Amino acid sequence: MPFANATDLASPYFQLFGKAKRLHWDPADIDLSADRDQWRLIVRDYQRERYAEQIRRLCAFFAAGEESVTNTLAPFLAAVPRGELGLDKEFHLAAQLYEEAKHYEFFARYFNEVFGESPAVAAAELTPAPQAVLVDDLNAVTDRLRRAEGREAVRHAFLEAVTHYMGAVEAMLARTGYVGAHDALASRGWLPGLQEGFRLIRRDEGRHVAFGIHVVREMCADEPHLRSLVQDTFERNLPNVLGTIQAFGIYDTPIVDLGKLTAFALGAYEQFMGAAGLAAIDATGLETELDADG
Ligand SMILES: [Fe+2]
Ligand SMILES: [Fe+2]
Repeated sequence: MPFANATDLASPYFQLFGKAKRLHWDPADIDLSADRDQWRLIVRDYQRERYAEQIRRLCAFFAAGEESVTNTLAPFLAAVPRGELGLDKEFHLAAQLYEEAKHYEFFARYFNEVFGESPAVAAAELTPAPQAVLVDDLNAVTDRLRRAEGREAVRHAFLEAVTHYMGAVEAMLARTGYVGAHDALASRGWLPGLQEGFRLIRRDEGRHVAFGIHVVREMCADEPHLRSLVQDTFERNLPNVLGTIQAFGIYDTPIVDLGKLTAFALGAYEQFMGAAGLAAIDATGLETELDADG
């Protein structure tokens, strides 16, 4: 009965879908007029610290990442019936795909209206580590999911893809990056429209990470032989995840606290390991934060 849980309103995936509906927002509504004026001053006044270059680079990474995750989520939805994974997961994934498209829309607007550039320039900013984890390897893992045949192969590919997408990309990088970037701007009182976009996107990413934690916990509990797949997928991606954060280590005065962000990313990794039953840690801390996010 693969669709038996479709109407189970207590399902965590169905509850995430409900939160997505309640917390709807529109990137087109965010006022960027103050950002446009402030941006010119940041470019002019902080050349030695290269703050404008760092903010633009952060936004380029986020824009390219959001474009990539929007491109690669469809195979997850198509896998749900083939892997008999439960229609409630598809409810969440449908909302997530809509949200990833909105996140990309926000950055496309920001490049156009504040930086005065096409968002198409973002992809060229990616150094090898983010290019691998955010784009090339994510494409490869979701392509394996697209091609998987048979219930067991689809479930295997689904868990691998969830670990990469919701674990390495969203929990370790996106959520970490949005927290760090929002804090860096808020502490300086800079770019209120960008702060607001970061805040709202981070809230969505919390639900996407929660989905990943639930899937890893559920599938590893049902099929413990899948635990090593979670571990292998994280270990394969760790160098590029950490390399992506360190892409901001080239600056003498980094606008984000790289040590704090690295620790935050590794904390998310440990919580996924705990959800998989691979570490003596439970995911309560992360889940408390995710619940607090709405
Ligand atoms: Fe996103
Ligand atoms: Fe996301």
